[in-house]
Amino acid sequence: MITVENNYFKIDTPNTTYLFKVNPLGLLEHIYYGKYIPNEEDYSFLEEMPGFGYGIEKEDASYHFHPNHSSNEVSFRGRGDNRELILEIEKDDDPECEFFYKGYDIINDFSIPGLPNALNKEATLVIHLYDSKKKLEFNLYYSTYKGNDVITKSTSLKNNDNKPITIRRILSSQLDIAKDDFILKTLDGLWAKERYIHAREVGYGVTKIGAQCGFSSSEHNPFILLEEKGTTLNSGDCYGLNLIYSGNHVEYIERSNVHKVRLLNGINDSSFAWLLSENEEFYSPEATLCFSSKGENELTHQYHRFINENIVRGYWQNRDHPVLLNGWEALTFTFNEEKLLKIAKRAKDLGFELFVLDDGWFGKRNGEKSSLGDWFPNLEKLPEGIKGLSKKVHDLGLLFGLWYEPEMISKDSDLFRKHPEFVLRHPDYEPLTMRFQYMLDLANPTVVDYLIETLSKSFNEGNLDYVKWDCNRVLSDCYSTYSKLQGETAHRYMLGLYRLLDTLTKRFPKILFESCASGGRRSDLGMLAYMPSFWCSDDTEPYERMKIQEGTLLAYPQSTIGAHVSDSPNKQTLRSSEIEDRFNVAMIGAFGYELDVTELSDIDTLSLIEEIAWYKENRHLLAYGDYYLTSSIFFDNYQSFYIVNPNKEEAIYFLGKKLFEFNSETIFAKVANLDPKETYLFKERRQNFDFYLERKRKLDNRKTEDFETFMANIKEIKPLTSEEQIVTLKGESLMNAGVRLYYEWGSGHLPKRIMTDFGTRVYKITKC
Ligand code: GLA
Repeated sequence: MITVENNYFKIDTPNTTYLFKVNPLGLLEHIYYGKYIPNEEDYSFLEEMPGFGYGIEKEDASYHFHPNHSSNEVSFRGRGDNRELILEIEKDDDPECEFFYKGYDIINDFSIPGLPNALNKEATLVIHLYDSKKKLEFNLYYSTYKGNDVITKSTSLKNNDNKPITIRRILSSQLDIAKDDFILKTLDGLWAKERYIHAREVGYGVTKIGAQCGFSSSEHNPFILLEEKGTTLNSGDCYGLNLIYSGNHVEYIERSNVHKVRLLNGINDSSFAWLLSENEEFYSPEATLCFSSKGENELTHQYHRFINENIVRGYWQNRDHPVLLNGWEALTFTFNEEKLLKIAKRAKDLGFELFVLDDGWFGKRNGEKSSLGDWFPNLEKLPEGIKGLSKKVHDLGLLFGLWYEPEMISKDSDLFRKHPEFVLRHPDYEPLTMRFQYMLDLANPTVVDYLIETLSKSFNEGNLDYVKWDCNRVLSDCYSTYSKLQGETAHRYMLGLYRLLDTLTKRFPKILFESCASGGRRSDLGMLAYMPSFWCSDDTEPYERMKIQEGTLLAYPQSTIGAHVSDSPNKQTLRSSEIEDRFNVAMIGAFGYELDVTELSDIDTLSLIEEIAWYKENRHLLAYGDYYLTSSIFFDNYQSFYIVNPNKEEAIYFLGKKLFEFNSETIFAKVANLDPKETYLFKERRQNFDFYLERKRKLDNRKTEDFETFMANIKEIKPLTSEEQIVTLKGESLMNAGVRLYYEWGSGHLPKRIMTDFGTRVYKITKC
C-alpha cells in the first residue's frame, strides 16, 4: 500500500512501514523503516531535528538541513553529505550534482528493461528528481508485493543534454537508519565452502562487502543481514538486503559518528563506468529490502515466500522437482552408452525419475582441456548421439537431462578455431585461463545470437527435460569492442547473459534448468529469475553441507537449493558418512543423488529405495513448507530446524550433530507454528544403521547385481528399530515443551539414539 499525503511518502507492507518526505528545500529526507505504523497527519514526532554542532547546512528562512547528519533518502557528490553516496557522475570533469524533487507517479506495470525483475508487483511508486544544471533526471522506484514484507527499490538516470556524461556509480538502494548498535551477518566463502555465516559488530567507518569477479560469487553473496544487538532467531529487529542481479555487486555499511548507519547496495562501482549519451537512460537492478521485528526466522520466512512467489516463475514455480540421478562424481569423463544405460535401468528400478548426463558428452571432451563450445555429441562414447541416448532413457520411463557450460570456450575447440574473436580478451594481453578455459564475450550480441541458435538446436535434438547450466570460471580480461568504456563490459556481459537466458527459458518453458557455477558461485536472485534452483555447492559431505545449507537458507528457500547424496568417503573432505545421514541433509533441497547406483552395497541400496520413497511422500512439504531454524550449526552445539506446511497439518524436524559426545545434552524437539488444539503423531524416520559392526561390514560388501535377487536378499536386513521414537501428543505440548529425544549412544539402557560423529535424525509430525 502506497500513500502520498502532505509531501510524505508512506509504503506499507503487512508488517512494515517505509517513510520519507520531500522537505521544504525540495530534497528527500528519510524518516523511518521499521515495524508498521498507522497513517498520521504529520510525522514530526519521528523526524530529524536540527543540531549536532558544526556541519554543512542548507537552509532558507524557515528550514535548516544538515546533509551530513540527517537521514537522506538519496545523496549526491559535493552537496554536503560526506558519507558513501548512491550516485556518482562526471560531466566535463565535474562530479557535482544536485537533484530536486520534481514529482511522482504510482504505476502498475513497472519492469526494468533487460534485467530480471520481481514479478507480481502490487504497485510501484516512482519519484522523479531533476538536476536542471546538468539536465539529468534521476528516478527512484519502490515496489510492494501482495502479502509480503519485502519491498524492492531501484533507480534510473536519464541524460537530457546533448553532451554525454560518465556514470561512475549508480546503486539501487540507499537506506539511512537512525540507530547504530548493530551486528552484521554476511554469507562468505569459496568453492566447496559457500555461504558460511559470519557475524561481527558494525564498527565506525565503512564496511564494504562485494564481488568483482564478474559474478555474484562464492566469496561474498549479495545477501546481508543487519541485526540490532540482542536479536535472536525469533525476536528483535533486523533488516535484510539482497540484489536481483548475478554480476559484480557491492554492499556498503557505513556507521557514522552521529549514531546512524547507512546501507547501500547495487552494481559494484569499482571498475564500473558507463557512458550515457543524449536521451539514454541507465537502469540499476532491483534491490530487495525486508524488515522483521520478530527476529531472523521471520525475515527468512518473508524472503522465502517472496522468492517462491515473485522470483521463481513459469512452469516450475511451486512444482515438485523430479528425483534426479547425476553420474558426474562417479563417472567423470569416462563412460559409454552401455554403462550409462545400465545405470539408468537400475535407477528406474530404484525409484529415480530423471537421469542426467553431466560433463564429457560433447566434442572431444575426455578431460578439462578441450571442446567447450562444441555442443555436438561425442560419437565415440555415444554412437547414436544424444538423440539415441535420450530416446533409450525416455523409453525406460525416465526424464533426461544434460550438462552444458554455454558461456565458455576451450582453446582446443572447433568454435575457437572458427571464431577466435568470440573470446572475451584484451587486444594487447594474453587472456587468462581458469580450468584451461576462456570466456565468451557475451557483451557482443553476435555471440549471444550464436548461442541462442546453437543451444536451441541441441536442446531440441536431445528432447531435453533438464539442463544443468554450468559456469566454471570467473571474468577476467574484461574488454569488449562492444563497450564504449571498458568499465561497461562486466555489466554488458550480464545484459547479454540475461537476454540469452530469457530467450531460451521462454523458448523451452518446460525444461527444468539448474544453475551451477563451480558449485554455488552464482547463487543469487538474478539466476533464480530464469532457473528455479542452483547447485548449492560441490561439497556434498553432510556435515559441511549442514553449514553451507544453513547459510544459504538464511536467504534462499529450500526449493532453490540443489542438494544431492554422493558417495562416501566424500571427495572434497575425505570424511566418511552413512548414506542415511547424507540423505537427511540433502532431502530439503532440489534433491537427487550423485553416485553410481550399480556399485552400491545391498544395505545402502535398501536405504536409498526407502529414502526416495519417503522423499516422494514429503517433497512438497520439504521444498515449499515454512522453514524455521531452532539451533544453528555455526553458533550452537548442533543444528536443528523444522519445516511446517502453512495449514499446520504436517511438519518435519531435523537434527544434525557435530562430534559424538559422551553424556550428551538433552534435546527437546520443539515445533512451534502448529495448531495447539490438534493432536499430532511425532515419528522418527526409520534409518538402516546396524550397530553390530561385524554384520554391517558384511552387508556393506554385498552387492547384488540382479534386481530381483536383491529384492529377495534384503528381506533379511533388519533395520534398527530399538530407537525409533514414536509419540502422540497435543500440538500445544509439542509447541511449548517439545519431545525429549532419546539420549545418544553411550552405554546404559536402551532406548538410545545411535548417533556417530556428525549423525543426523529426521522426525515427521502429522496431524492425527
Ligand atoms: C563443475 C560442477 C560439477 C560438475 C563439473 C563438470 O565443477 O560444479 O557439478 O558438473 O563442473 O565438469
